[in-house]
Amino acid sequence: MIAARSQSATDAPGLPPIKKPVASVTRLTLTEFRCYAHARVEVGPGAIVLTGPNGAGKTNLLEAISLLSPGRGLRSARSADFQRIGADHDAVWGVAATIAGPDGETLAGTGREPGSERRIIQIDGKPGKSQAALTQIVSVVWLTPHMDRLFVEGAKSRRRFLDRLTFGFDPAHAGRVTRHDLALRQRARLLAERPGETAWLDAVEAELAATGVALAAARVDMVARLARALDAATGPFPRPIVAAEGPVESRLMGQPALAVEDWLREVLMRNRNSDSVHGETQVGAHRGDLAVTHREKNMPAALTSTGEQKAILVAIILAAARLATAERGRTPILLLDEVAAHLDETRRQALYAEIGALGAQAWMTGTDRSLFETLEGDAQHFTIRDAHITHA
Ligand SMILES: Nc1ncnc2c1ncn2[C@@H]1O[C@H](COP(=O)(O)OP(=O)(O)O)[C@@H](O)[C@H]1O
Ligand SMILES: [Mg+2]
Repeated sequence: MIAARSQSATDAPGLPPIKKPVASVTRLTLTEFRCYAHARVEVGPGAIVLTGPNGAGKTNLLEAISLLSPGRGLRSARSADFQRIGADHDAVWGVAATIAGPDGETLAGTGREPGSERRIIQIDGKPGKSQAALTQIVSVVWLTPHMDRLFVEGAKSRRRFLDRLTFGFDPAHAGRVTRHDLALRQRARLLAERPGETAWLDAVEAELAATGVALAAARVDMVARLARALDAATGPFPRPIVAAEGPVESRLMGQPALAVEDWLREVLMRNRNSDSVHGETQVGAHRGDLAVTHREKNMPAALTSTGEQKAILVAIILAAARLATAERGRTPILLLDEVAAHLDETRRQALYAEIGALGAQAWMTGTDRSLFETLEGDAQHFTIRDAHITHA
C-alpha cells in the first residue's frame, strides 16, 4: 500500500515539497455546449456552489465537467445531444478545462470533431488516443438526482458506477473497460455474421476472458477496500455493506485469476451456440454488480427509503474519495447535483466538513442558496440564470 499523503501536511524545510493530491479545475470554457453558446468560469479548489432557478444550466455545467472522465458523462448522453440547439450549422460543441494537479497544469478538452459526430479528446493540445487517457490526469465522481434509482435499476448502472469509482483508484481500469466492451461487441458480431471463423472467435474470446478477469479482479479489490473504508467511517452517514457480485467476481474470491480465465474461456467456447441463439454473451464480467446492504436494518439498499438511498450513495462516494486520496494520492473532483437539498441538516454539515477535510474540489448545485449558508466564507458562489454564470 502506498503511504497516505495528507493534504494538510505542511512542507518541512529541507525536504522536497509534498505534492498536493488534489486535482482541480481552474478554468472551464464551454462552447456551443447544451444551453451555453459560450461560457467561462475561473475557480479555485474547494467547494463551489452554483445556485439558480430550474432550467438555468446548473446540471449542464456539471455535465461538462463530467466529460473530463471517460464515458458519456453524467446523463449518459450521445455526443449529438451536447450540441447547442440553435447553434450555427457548422459550429461544434466543446469543453475545455485547465486542470491544476500534483504535477502542474494540464489543458484537457473534449468536443465534437468538425464534420463528424465523433467525440474527440485533447490533452495539452495533442489528440488523446482514447478517453481512458483522461484518467491519468483527473478523476471525477458524481451524484445526480437520476442516480436516486441506482439501487432499484438493473445491474448495468451499478456496474458503471463501480467502474467509475475504480478509475480514480486505478487509472488503468478505464482501458480495461474499453477493451472488454470492444471484445464483447466483436464476439457478438462474429457469432451473428461469421460463426464458422473459429480461430478468430478463439482470439476474441481469449481477449474477452483476459480483460474480463482483470476487470472483475479490479472490482473485487476496489470493493474490498471500499468495505474497509466504510467500516472505518464515523459520522452521521450510514455505513452500508458492499460486495462485488457476478459470475467472474465470485469465482475470483476462491480461485487464482489464471484458473478463472481458463474457466471463462472454456465457458465462452462452450456457449457459442446458445449465446448466438440468445443474441448475447450470457457469462462474463459484463454480468457484474455492486450489491449494497443497509447495515443496521440488514436490508438491501433498494428497499430503503429514497432519502436513505441518497445517504448511502453519499457515504460510498465519500469513502471512495478518502480511499483514493489516502492510498493513491488522487482526490477526485466531486460533482454533487441537487444533493444538499436531500440531506438533513446534520448530514449536510457532515458532507461540507468532509469536503473541507479532503480538500476536494466539490461542485454543488441547488435552487436555494440558504442550503449552503453554513459554507458561506468557505465556498465560491456562482449564480446561474438563463445560461449566464456570474460570480455571486
Ligand atoms: N442541446 C441543447 N441545446 C440547448 N439547450 C439545451 C440542450 N440540452 C438541454 N438544454 C436546455 O438546458 C436548460 C438547462 O438545463 P439544466 O442544466 O439541466 O438546468 P438546471 O439548472 O435546472 O440544472 C434546459 O432548459 C434544457 O432545455
Ligand atoms: Mg439540474
